[in-house]
Amino acid sequence: MDKERMYELITILNKANYAYHVLDNPSITDQEFDKYLRELITLETLHPDWVVADSPTRSVGGEVIESFKKVNHTIPMLSLSNVFNEDEIIEFDSRIKKEGITPQYVCELKIDGLSVSLKYQQGKFVSAATRGDGTIGEDITHNVKTIKTVPMTLTKAIDIEVRGEIYMSKKTLLELNKKREAAGIPLLQNARNAAAGSIRQLDSKVAASRNLDCFIYHLPNPEDYKIEYHQEALDFMENLGFKVNSKANRLVTDINGILEFINYYTKERANLSYDIDGVVIKTNSIKEQKQLGFTAKSPKWATAYKFPALEVLTKLTDITFTVGRTGQITPNAVLEPVIVAGSTIARATLHNEDYVVSKDLKVGDIVSIRKAGDVIPEVVSAKKERRTGAELPFKMITKCPICHELISKKPGLVDYFCLNPFCPARHIEGLIHFTSRHAMNIEGLGERIIEDFFNLKFILTFSDIYHLAEHRDSLIELEGYGNKSIDNLLKAIEISKNSSLERLIFGLGIPSVGEKTAKILAIKYQKLETIIKTTEEEFKEIPDIGPIVAEGLKTYFANPTNLKELNTLMELGINTTYLGPKVQVNPNFNNKTFVITGTIDSISRTDLEAKIELLGGKTSSTVSKNTSVVIVGSTPGSKYNKAIELNIPIWTETDVLTYLNSSF
Ligand code: IVH
Repeated sequence: MDKERMYELITILNKANYAYHVLDNPSITDQEFDKYLRELITLETLHPDWVVADSPTRSVGGEVIESFKKVNHTIPMLSLSNVFNEDEIIEFDSRIKKEGITPQYVCELKIDGLSVSLKYQQGKFVSAATRGDGTIGEDITHNVKTIKTVPMTLTKAIDIEVRGEIYMSKKTLLELNKKREAAGIPLLQNARNAAAGSIRQLDSKVAASRNLDCFIYHLPNPEDYKIEYHQEALDFMENLGFKVNSKANRLVTDINGILEFINYYTKERANLSYDIDGVVIKTNSIKEQKQLGFTAKSPKWATAYKFPALEVLTKLTDITFTVGRTGQITPNAVLEPVIVAGSTIARATLHNEDYVVSKDLKVGDIVSIRKAGDVIPEVVSAKKERRTGAELPFKMITKCPICHELISKKPGLVDYFCLNPFCPARHIEGLIHFTSRHAMNIEGLGERIIEDFFNLKFILTFSDIYHLAEHRDSLIELEGYGNKSIDNLLKAIEISKNSSLERLIFGLGIPSVGEKTAKILAIKYQKLETIIKTTEEEFKEIPDIGPIVAEGLKTYFANPTNLKELNTLMELGINTTYLGPKVQVNPNFNNKTFVITGTIDSISRTDLEAKIELLGGKTSSTVSKNTSVVIVGSTPGSKYNKAIELNIPIWTETDVLTYLNSSF
């Protein structure tokens, strides 16, 4: 019978998968595996209604979900407290002993990935969830099905929940990054982010192609299986078919055992095929675990020892130069990608010429790299004894790498600058202005991020900002940008699309067009399309817009590059209409010219001027016989005397507020 054969093939292939991926001990050859798999695929294609959830063909991915469902963790998924040195381990041990316990500990490796909860019913895999905030996680069942070391069927038909870590091997990360480098895509910064990024995909094809793996290390409900020791739980889970790190795990009877384990893996860590960022120490007896209990965040019966920052060797393949928004030139080390403390490092800042010279770095050198503060990569020194003679001496550039104009440095200072005001690197400044608070007001897109995204070529123009959402997967994998911060940023970008026209006009950075002019234009013309069509003469007729501003506006809107960019922005859904309050002419202000002098405390000068204009008034900076009212704040200037001299009505701050309040 075909159906029986199908079940037979599933059993053979699942066993072979387990032997290969979990036991690391293949039971059949690759050719045999492929032959059986092809036979199974043929049967399943002929009889699609026969396909079962635990078929090994399901692990190739392809399942696409619409959104991540929320999952409630009935037993919270807690994190661990950290210890960083021997003294803190001793303290952890004595806190336990104070409770009258003489503990045995299980020492485990702290896998650098993301934690997962797996649920089975009657021995069949039913669902998988991320940790989330510990209480509510996200359903990632479709992606976890693609992980070959997560069994779809257990050796016993029981209901069970187990927890562990999904991770990506060092080899997979390096291969993936090689491909990304060749394709010009930003590198994945570390195995943890790469694994997390793969799991947070709606289409399971991505996870399937990323070759993820999973170690199981926690049984939340040991009593249900009459299990009294953590070590027993680990063996139990291993016998059910889970991949447990039993080669590494070690049962120890005292603190010396813990320290030996830590010392061994501090050295051995570099030889492991996966990243670890520490060692986890857990008391073995479940009864003692119960007695010790939990704090709000973590169990008191376990802790994580975190490794100190590592130094590794790699090759300095090039020194390149970047230009910051102020024109500052920075040399950067281009490195053969290496993993340092869990992150792939391919670049590091070399700060300035003096820094490179003082370290005597040459292109081609073998250098030692460290992650300072565990975050920023740093070139520590060159291994001069490894030089072959083929290394190239460092030479500071003389021209800007972007605009090719000569660069210079001030006497006594270390940094070179490109002084060309038209250097494209100055775009960065324009981008910062565009996103600033009084322009498009995109929270989270500040100077540093814009510089980063500019250098990574994610944002070169205003419209690129509105394309960022398409790069979400690459962005969340950048060092220092988590899921949450990128999602908040994308949200802020989306919100900014609805800004009123005056913000967009101000944000464009048209020479001499400040906030006030932008507002005048937006109120008068209501739509960007109308402003674009306005002639220089018409601009000049607007009070407060002089010939220089009028010419600046015309030049800006006559430039085809600018027009193309504005068109793109419109196509991307950026609002180009004035959305502020409608003009509501108020007789106290209408057709009058106001001059303000001194400090007004309760309202900013710009806002006051804008409101006066909204109510039909005009503002001017000089007092003359044409001035209707002079508004006088504290410590007024000579304009106050002039007003008295010309007998012009004077309003105090209280007067102006009273008149304004009747309208707003
Ligand atoms: S035990 C209640 N064991 O480290 C026990 N966690 O900083 C919970 N981790 O959220 C965890 N390897 O994602 C445990 N052998 C291991 C681990 C491990 C990695 C992760 C896990 C946890 C985080 C805590």
